[in-house]
Amino acid sequence: MSDKYNFNIFPLFSDVVTTTTLKCDDKKILKSLKKLKYVKREGSISKEVNCLISKNYNVLDSLPILKGEIHKGLKLYIKGLMKQDTGFKITTSWATQTKPKAYSNSHQHANSWLSAVYYPEGDVNFKIRFHCPKPQLWLDHCNEYNIYNSKTYDIKADKNMLDNFSKHISS
Ligand SMILES: [Fe+2]
Repeated sequence: MSDKYNFNIFPLFSDVVTTTTLKCDDKKILKSLKKLKYVKREGSISKEVNCLISKNYNVLDSLPILKGEIHKGLKLYIKGLMKQDTGFKITTSWATQTKPKAYSNSHQHANSWLSAVYYPEGDVNFKIRFHCPKPQLWLDHCNEYNIYNSKTYDIKADKNMLDNFSKHISS
């Protein structure tokens, strides 16, 4: 066998993260999100880990256009990509604020089986980091990290971006 790939790759049982761009009025949404009341998120104890969370856990109730767009994005993931013939509903929705040069602790959304994160604004410094939920057996010996062997994977946030991912992936 040569060093070149001469085999087929089956990324079996993969954890799928999708990103898509929503058609929303990002400025109006941002304005509305800024008006919410926020409290310090659990674990926000230092300057580096500094994240606020909205007191309201149903923020999409007052943002029906955004809620509709997120619903469409989830439907594409559930029915289009995963081919699941099932109904679903958005049970909770909250907003977070992370201060410049700070980050939020990694966590899972244990209250649901699918999560979506929406960014009204994009910036080269805005990133979401996903953590591999599988056991780390031999990954410390990598010469190079790629989509198959990474322990974490960063996705840059863009304006009106929606990420979808399943509940056992922490971000
Ligand atoms: Fe989260």
